[in-house]
Amino acid sequence: MRFSGKSAIVTGAASGIGRAVATGLAAEGARVVVADINAAGAQEVARAIEQAGGVALAQPTDVTKAAEVERMVQEAVERFGGLDIMVNNAGILRVGLVVDTSEAEWELVLRTNLTSVFLGSKAAARQMIRQGRGGRIVNTSSIHAVLSEPNAGAYTAAKGGVEAFSRTLASELAPHKITVNCVRPGATWTNLSRPFYTPPVLAALNQRVPLQEVAQPEWIAAGVLFFASDEARYCIGTTLAIDGGYIMHGGLPGLMYE
Ligand code: NAI
Repeated sequence: MRFSGKSAIVTGAASGIGRAVATGLAAEGARVVVADINAAGAQEVARAIEQAGGVALAQPTDVTKAAEVERMVQEAVERFGGLDIMVNNAGILRVGLVVDTSEAEWELVLRTNLTSVFLGSKAAARQMIRQGRGGRIVNTSSIHAVLSEPNAGAYTAAKGGVEAFSRTLASELAPHKITVNCVRPGATWTNLSRPFYTPPVLAALNQRVPLQEVAQPEWIAAGVLFFASDEARYCIGTTLAIDGGYIMHGGLPGLMYE
C-alpha cells in the first residue's frame, strides 16, 4: 500500500497504460482522478476501481484545454483534499510523412502530447507548491523521443519535448520537493498501437526487440508507480526506459560479426 493517503490524477486513464497506472495506484491505496477525453471510458475505469475496493473519480477532461486541466486539479483537491501525484499520460499517434503533414495535424499532435504535459504539470505544481508537502509528477514519453519513427515526425518531436521539458521542470520544482521524471515505453499493447501491429510489423518487432515481445500496459505502469512512490524520492529529471531492450540493442538485423 505505497500510496495510502495519497491523491492522484492520471490523464488518458480510460485506456491502455493510463488505465493500468490508475488501477495500480488505486490498488495500493491512492484516491485517483481518472481523467480522459473519453468520458464513458473514464466512468468505466472508475467503476472498475471502486468495484475492486478502491476510490476513484471519473473526470471528463480534454488535456489540450487549460481550463479543463485546471478544473481537473480543482476536482482532485475538492474531492480528495489535495494532490500528491500527477501522471501526464494522455497521448495520440498520427501517421504521415513530414512532407504530407498539415500544420493542423502537427498542432494537434504537439498540443495533445506536449502542451498537455505543460498544462498538467503547471496546474499540478501550483497546487503542490501551495500545499507545501512535495509531490510527484510522472510523464509518459516514448522510445521515439530518442529514436526516429519514420511516418510520425510530429509524435517524435512531441515526445522529445516531453523529456527535455521534464528535465527543466525537475530543476525548477526540486526546491519544493516535487520530483519530475519520465517513463519511456517501448512497443506496448494498447488501443493506440494495436491497429499498427499487423503480423509483419509484429514479426519485425520481435526481431528488433531483444526480449522478443510487446509489453503489457502493466509492465509500463510499474515504472510510473515507482516514480510516484516514496522509494523514488531521490530521482529527478530522469527517464526510465521500459522497452524490452529496443533502444539498447545495436545488433545488425539477423547477423553478428563472426
Ligand atoms: P491509448 O490510446 O490506449 O490511451 C490513451 C488515452 O488518452 C485514451 O484513453 C484517449 O482517450 C486519451 N486521450 C487522447 N487525447 C486526449 C485528450 N485530448 N485529452 C484527454 N485524454 C485524451 O494509448 P496508450 O498506448 O495507453 O498511450 C498512453 C501514452 O503512452 C501516450 O502518451 C503514448 O504516446 C505513450 N506511448 C505508448 C506506446 C505504445 O506502444 N502503446 C509506446 C510509447 C509511448
